Amino acid sequence: MSSKATIILGIETSCDDTSAAVLRNYSVLSNVTANQLIHERYGGVVPELASRSHQENIVQVIDAAIIKAKIALGEIDAVAFTQGPGLMGSLLVGASFAKTFALAREIPLIAVHHMKAHILAHFIEDAGNQKPEFPFLCLTVSGGHTQIVQVNGPNEMEVIGKTIDDAAGEAFDKAAKMLGLSYPGGPLIDKFAKIGNPNAFQFSKPKIDGLNFSFSGLKTSILYFLNSELKKTPEFIEENLFDLCASIQQVIVDILIDKIKKASKLTGITRIAISGGVSANSGLRDALELLKIEGFDTFIPKFEYCTDNAAMIAVAGKFLHERKIFANQSITANAKLIW
Ligand code: KG4
Ligand code: ZN
Repeated sequence: MSSKATIILGIETSCDDTSAAVLRNYSVLSNVTANQLIHERYGGVVPELASRSHQENIVQVIDAAIIKAKIALGEIDAVAFTQGPGLMGSLLVGASFAKTFALAREIPLIAVHHMKAHILAHFIEDAGNQKPEFPFLCLTVSGGHTQIVQVNGPNEMEVIGKTIDDAAGEAFDKAAKMLGLSYPGGPLIDKFAKIGNPNAFQFSKPKIDGLNFSFSGLKTSILYFLNSELKKTPEFIEENLFDLCASIQQVIVDILIDKIKKASKLTGITRIAISGGVSANSGLRDALELLKIEGFDTFIPKFEYCTDNAAMIAVAGKFLHERKIFANQSITANAKLIW
């Protein structure tokens, strides 16, 4: 006799995307996200505007996810939400909704760690061709984090390397800003890099011991390089935009790949996955594909599960639900939630 499927509503509001998803076990019935375009004109996420937009969007987004999933409200077995890390005001909107929903419907409440959920996105039924077996290494690269995580099980994860300054997504976004591109610049660098020459300009890679990363030196070297070229040729950026994007993307990808290979050598683990917003980057996805030739098993999530989404929160919730790890009504959002 097969056991009854679990239906979980996932809610993600850690930064500037309001997202809700419904999963039946590990399968996505719906995954609805409202992006906040308002931040573009400020060149970065404005926390106060983000929380206000979440407040405006959340009911509609959750409604849309439930309708799209073609389920009745009474079929939802549990609600999972992002407890942190993230922006406090944004997190509070999702946490308050989830707590109220759980209380009103008398169903379990599940608190999820945003970065762990990015990793567990690999276990969404249609996330990719293949799910990684444990243990595997996950390069988790987003706007706020850059980590190498040794994943021994769905709830057993150890950070073995991390950035000592900027995150990889931040490096993309800050470089894009220097090139006059709008926020978030990562996807635009990716787009223009496709038609540029990655070897046109050389930027030096930082020399950081062990498995940690650093991107602030790269940012400064790009800034100095641009300033000196702009003095000679005021149109330097316009004339070389595609090559600049391709060269910047290349160096960031090289830094990431060098470290994950080093981590593999140190741990003896050859299964390598990527996750987080920057794992949507085509240069990084191509570089990971190439690692297969060197004998690594690589895992790349479907594009829509790379950037912030509620399906990953629901799948992380499913793993916690199996172990009956539930939160109670005294739980609060935590902007700096530790691992
Ligand atoms: O995981 P995410 O959606 O939000 C956070 O939790 O931070 O990651 C957002 C980051 C941003 O820095 C964005 O520029 C970057 O991911 N990003 C990309 C691409 N798509 C998103 N960076 C490079 N290439 C992309 N295609
Ligand atoms: Zn994220």
